[in-house]
Amino acid sequence: MKRLITPYLRATTLVVAVFLMAFTPSEKEEGMYPLAQLGSLDLAKAGLQIPQSDIYQPGKVGLTNALVRLGGCTGSFISEKGLIITNHHCVFGAVASASTPEKNYLDNGFYAANESEEIKTTLPCRITLSFEDVSTRVLEGVNPDDSPEKQAEVISDNIQSITKEEQENNPDLEIKISEMFVGKYYTLFRYKMLDDVRLVYVPPKAVGKFGGESDNWMWPRHNGDFSIVRAYEDGKPYVPQKHLKIDVNGTKENDFVFILGYPGSTYRHYPAQFLTYQNEHILPLISSWFDERIDLLHRDAKGDTKKELQYASTIASLSNTTKNFKGKMQGLRRTNIMEQRASEQAKLQDYVKKNGSESAKKVIPRIAELYARKNALADDYILMNQMYSSSGMFNLAHSSNKALDSYNAADKEQRKTWVEDSKAAIQSMKRGYRVYSTEMDAQLFSSLVYRIYKSGNGRMDDVLAYLKLDQPSRDEVQESIENIWYSSKYKNRLDILELMDTKPIKLIKTKDKIRDLARLIYPVLQKDATEWRDIDAELKALMPRLADIKQDYYGGTFVPDANSTLRLTYGYVKGYSPSDAVYNDPFTTIDGIIEKAQPSGDYYMPENILEKYKTVTANDNLKHPKHDQVVVGVLYNLDTTGGNSGSPILNAKGELVGVNFDRAFSATINDFEWNESYSRSIGVDIRYVLYVMKYVNEADAVLDELGVDLD
Ligand code: ARG
Ligand code: GLU
Repeated sequence: MKRLITPYLRATTLVVAVFLMAFTPSEKEEGMYPLAQLGSLDLAKAGLQIPQSDIYQPGKVGLTNALVRLGGCTGSFISEKGLIITNHHCVFGAVASASTPEKNYLDNGFYAANESEEIKTTLPCRITLSFEDVSTRVLEGVNPDDSPEKQAEVISDNIQSITKEEQENNPDLEIKISEMFVGKYYTLFRYKMLDDVRLVYVPPKAVGKFGGESDNWMWPRHNGDFSIVRAYEDGKPYVPQKHLKIDVNGTKENDFVFILGYPGSTYRHYPAQFLTYQNEHILPLISSWFDERIDLLHRDAKGDTKKELQYASTIASLSNTTKNFKGKMQGLRRTNIMEQRASEQAKLQDYVKKNGSESAKKVIPRIAELYARKNALADDYILMNQMYSSSGMFNLAHSSNKALDSYNAADKEQRKTWVEDSKAAIQSMKRGYRVYSTEMDAQLFSSLVYRIYKSGNGRMDDVLAYLKLDQPSRDEVQESIENIWYSSKYKNRLDILELMDTKPIKLIKTKDKIRDLARLIYPVLQKDATEWRDIDAELKALMPRLADIKQDYYGGTFVPDANSTLRLTYGYVKGYSPSDAVYNDPFTTIDGIIEKAQPSGDYYMPENILEKYKTVTANDNLKHPKHDQVVVGVLYNLDTTGGNSGSPILNAKGELVGVNFDRAFSATINDFEWNESYSRSIGVDIRYVLYVMKYVNEADAVLDELGVDLD
């Protein structure tokens, strides 16, 4: 472990130079603070009762050492033998794949009373060991007068070479340089990997996902969205440097709380036009497209448990996105975030006009021009990309075309080793060949063809000519595509997978009409993709220059947008008013589960569990401070986003009082802007976590290991 000390110490000295860029002054509880910036916070004043250095101090073990990044989620160590608490929805896929219709852990839950019964997953787990500011090295040789492509290339080459060098010095760690602000700030992170994570306790789906999609992104909430896994190293339970202590008493309204975790992405520093681009293109288009996909998946799986398990994860993730996007559209409609950002930008432009250099004057107008071009392309471009991700058969046709081109371009010598050399391409072909059913695949593809045709920009002209269709109806397009799909060789999934493994050259030489379509569509997409890339490269090169203008104009501190690196956010347990005349309490209780429970559907609760909720006399510590009932969910005004799922909610003493898993519907626009009135995040209260393990499943071995005694 000695090696780790040096980078920590190095980090302290360098970190001072970071993020001095000044932006809008903020007295709000907004902020996902990188560890490097914790020194600028006065958490004691906010309510923290332990020394701030107990959370994080370079070179010392602190609470941050208990944190893990688990797949796309967060988790935290809660025992000295590697137990990790995270969300049920974060292990959902792993539980679904471990389940069969006979041993349905998803429906029934899972509990390993001893280590030998735990189930291995493929969840990657990593711990942040140390970090270091590498901005100067990453930006070495970047010249703002060079073309945007050239600038991006220099940055990317520097990142690669620094990463490579550091990786060679630390072969057993994962090294990643994260962009804290494009063209300005870069931090190198060293991660320890623990890739043996096993399921220990998973509540039944009726508990973990109670309320299903109806309650997702909503408060009041009543699901037990938690699960417990164990990290192993060299086949033995991993001993973490730090694990969290649990406070069985939970919190009360207005208590100070904080969250450590790995938030994914936010867009607070993006220009005004980005919001319009989201609101008019990405959000409506993707949400309506995902709704269509979800509907088809449901219809195809209906009544077939095997298919339901197979589709469960895809449906959950599509549903999660589509509802989030609808929340964002509602939020953008109800607030004036877009107008505000536009007027802020106009103010900045007035300012540079008077005070800025000639080139600074062009930055904001140029951003507007580039977004105008992007918006004109957006709908068709997004939908054309969906062709590849939504239709596995079309995707295979396209990748076969590409592979054939590479084979044809190879000389005799190269052909001898072509299969060996193309291993990675063949693997990716396999991954892209996700076909649920020929019927669904054809329906999805034809729906996209029709949508793109209907947008009126002519991008499907060649396709319609090939299909011999003139101004077709939706049904005519579908019929024509179905004919091709049903007579395609690509529908025989097992044969195709076997060919990929045994005779890939035969596969890529196979003629198929879908390949003709792919040949027609790809060049159209390529043309748009080139323009899209050019626009994005230029926008990226303009971002640091826009930041300079803001820096000139404002005072205060700058907190970088979320980028999947370890952050702290703090605030209070708080209710709110989501709409006129409505006030929501910050705690829910088991009474709410009893009220909502139904014999089937999203609020399905099996009789035997419901009976327990109605009759068990729970330990008094688990109860609501004012009502004589166990607390289930908790609401707070912290600043979180996707990736914060599974993050520990910690009280003033740094003890675990809940697990974050969601935001209120109104808070989905948090990604664009935080606001005290609508930003509320949702956690499962530790009192309900313990209640479920104790009384629903009698998971005593886990409770013992956590050192919790509820008798
Ligand atoms: N909305 C939460 C998050 O973004 C929970 C998602 C769980 N999935 C679901 N489809 N209900 O990830
Ligand atoms: N459920 C989200 C996740 O998986 C967290 C909620 C949010 O986006 O704030 O990370």
